[in-house]
Amino acid sequence: MVDKYKRNIDYVRLSVTDKCNFRCNYCMIENAEFMNDNELLTLKQIETLIKVLKDLKFKHVRITGGEPTLRTDIIEIAKIIKKYFGNFSITTNGSLLDLLAKDLKENGLSSVNISLDSLNRDNFRKITRRDDLDKVLKGLEKAIKLGLKVKLNTVIQKANFNEIFDLIEFASKINVAIRFIELMPLGEKYNKENFISEDKLKSIIKEKYTLVPLNKKLGLGPSRYFLIKELNLNIGFISAMTHNFCSLCNKIRIAANGSIFPCLAFDYYISLKDVINDEDKLKERIILAVNKKPEKHFLNKIKKVIPMHKMGG
Ligand code: 5AD
Ligand code: SF4
Repeated sequence: MVDKYKRNIDYVRLSVTDKCNFRCNYCMIENAEFMNDNELLTLKQIETLIKVLKDLKFKHVRITGGEPTLRTDIIEIAKIIKKYFGNFSITTNGSLLDLLAKDLKENGLSSVNISLDSLNRDNFRKITRRDDLDKVLKGLEKAIKLGLKVKLNTVIQKANFNEIFDLIEFASKINVAIRFIELMPLGEKYNKENFISEDKLKSIIKEKYTLVPLNKKLGLGPSRYFLIKELNLNIGFISAMTHNFCSLCNKIRIAANGSIFPCLAFDYYISLKDVINDEDKLKERIILAVNKKPEKHFLNKIKKVIPMHKMGG
């Protein structure tokens, strides 16, 4: 579907729960409030939605959260997406992948983005407020072993800036692309003191390595990739704050309660709940949401209250 600004919107991020077993400092406070279970889209509603998205010629679905693997019916959700789209990808904190990756793969999972902000146990605990680094590493290992396409996501902030080279060298060792995400001012907890820009990050990386821009796109998202020549490693930057990519945006987000967010950077959403059982009305609402996509974000200027986990990460 083409939006008002001639962008082809063909990619959906579908959040299946806003809950998470981590409490990353940029995402959630310790006692974050979550949706009631009865507010979440049911399997039947997810199926109607997925069918309609396919009819509207969306090309790819990524399951997100919160932490999507916390949903006890995640395999059933996988089966539904597989039925209509053939395969799907997932964004996860990785902590439950050791248990679930095999089943997910057998039911259509093709690629996994794993969030990994630290390789140091204390620092990992400081950032995520959970002592689960080992579980994440185990999940990552399992995903690689199963032959899934794996990428690492690292939100860079003051707390892990000193780990850049450890993270890069780890990614190189396991031969997995790593993407550095600029911290975005989402939710009430944002602290601008923690922000590190892409240019600052690159200047540090360049002290040790040669970065060669790769002009091809890897994946469907907004990441711009570089090759670290010495390591033969692809690294990406997702820099909403300093390298705006709105003109290339190809996605909508659907929250776990069936609200569509045309853009991550606005607290504006369109509810789907009241039309979720009516395919024609559902289609109209989704078309409306695509037409409501703004040209670009103003994250540098306006306050954004709804955090990532409530919109679909
Ligand atoms: N800024 C940047 N990235 C964020 N994520 C969650 N909240 C923010 C934020 N405020 C990232 C997570 C994960 C992905 C779903 O989004 O770390 O990698
Ligand atoms: Fe959970 Fe992801 Fe939010 Fe961290 S960023 S608390 S892993 S939803």
